[in-house]
Amino acid sequence: MRKQIVAGNWKMNTNINEGVELAKMIIEKVSSANKDVELILIPPFTHISDVAKQTKGTTLKVGAQNCAEWAKGAYTGEVSASMISSIGATHVIIGHSERREFFKEDNHLLFRKINEVLNNGLIPIYCCGEKLEQRESNQYFEVVEQQIAESLFELNKVQMQQVVIAYEPVWAIGTGRNATAEQAQEMHEFIRKTIASKFGKEIADGISILYGGSCKPSNAAEIFAKPDVDGGLIGGASLVADDFIAIAQSF
Ligand code: PGA
Repeated sequence: MRKQIVAGNWKMNTNINEGVELAKMIIEKVSSANKDVELILIPPFTHISDVAKQTKGTTLKVGAQNCAEWAKGAYTGEVSASMISSIGATHVIIGHSERREFFKEDNHLLFRKINEVLNNGLIPIYCCGEKLEQRESNQYFEVVEQQIAESLFELNKVQMQQVVIAYEPVWAIGTGRNATAEQAQEMHEFIRKTIASKFGKEIADGISILYGGSCKPSNAAEIFAKPDVDGGLIGGASLVADDFIAIAQSF
């Protein structure tokens, strides 16, 4: 059976004290969450080390929101996958729509980053999803298929088995307007079929596909109940410990 995962993407929020406090509050409440669900905290780079110290000995995992496409060298301001791994993180978000939009990251660059992440024993959480105009002009399957093909199809089967996918329609991120459970299911099923067409059904069936975009305690249960939805990548609601835990209990 594939893993159920709820990951909290803190984005560029909290200072170090607030971040450690938030992690502590989540850890305190985590005993009430479903043990079968993998919970991942994804704070800014500056907090990873301290948050990882807090989560040590718990079931919680820690991740990063991005990493460099290179292993090391003269790349001022960049953070490598090996650095991220050396401070206790296990996951890295790759290709979040905010990185695609504000930093012009494209599918081919994201493929190189995924390779770097995997080469360092980390798990990529690869984000895909269409913009509003692409949804409205009925191009959404095409867009997501291209994102999957160009960033994942060059991986080998062993690599592919490590990947977590997050479907995040851009029009749902931070807008309060979530995709309906039916819209999420339809796309998740399509993504799984796309993966199966390249890597085979067995691998596709083992891949966790998370939904992201205005996911909150009030809509998580309905969305997570769909057969191809294996959890969520949570932005705003992951900054409130009670909401994050409530979402984790929504399976
Ligand atoms: P949101 O963000 O939950 O605030 O919509 C989700 C994400 O960007 O991962």
